[in-house]
Amino acid sequence: MRLGVIGIGYLGLTHAVCMADLGHEVIGLDVDADKVARVSKGDVPFFEPGLEPMLRKNLGADRLRFTTSFAEVAGFANVHFLYQWERHAAWRRGSGDKHRPGPKRTLRGIRNSSGKASPSKIALRQTASSSA
Ligand SMILES: NC(=O)c1ccc[n+]([C@@H]2O[C@H](COP(=O)([O-])OP(=O)(O)OC[C@H]3O[C@@H](n4cnc5c(N)ncnc54)[C@H](O)[C@@H]3O)[C@@H](O)[C@H]2O)c1
Repeated sequence: MRLGVIGIGYLGLTHAVCMADLGHEVIGLDVDADKVARVSKGDVPFFEPGLEPMLRKNLGADRLRFTTSFAEVAGFANVHFLYQWERHAAWRRGSGDKHRPGPKRTLRGIRNSSGKASPSKIALRQTASSSA
């Protein structure tokens, strides 16, 4: 299956790597371009024993890649997992940005940029509290 993972922090990156290790094709997206560059090189930016070798293995096997482009994710994946911050969490962390999409806008963006006449996307709500 082709999976999209939106938000590659503690939960999202771990999920993306494990799904790739199970054999799925996975693309991870984050609004933080530095984080995308770092994980694309095989660096895990937090402590999670065993995750880094698994990340490198799956990058090397071309089952896993990372991007900042919603259009790329929308055009690639059939199923999307949302692990981004909820809007209130972004404000609490002092990085609230009214232009940064919350979960509803992310899902709308994926649908609108999929470029497919009848999108086959299934959005799985993992942690977000607002429905899409
Ligand atoms: N870690 C936990 O134990 C836990 C438990 C319950 C709920 N949650 C919730 O799950 C979500 C993810 O948790 P986490 O611990 O992985 O957080 P995290 O901060 O490690 O990762 C979140 C990532 O989402 C990215 N992001 C934020 N807004 C985005 C957007 N609009 N589009 C794309 N990427 C975006 C951030 O840059 C960050 O890399 C959060 O909403 C959190 O509140 C986490």
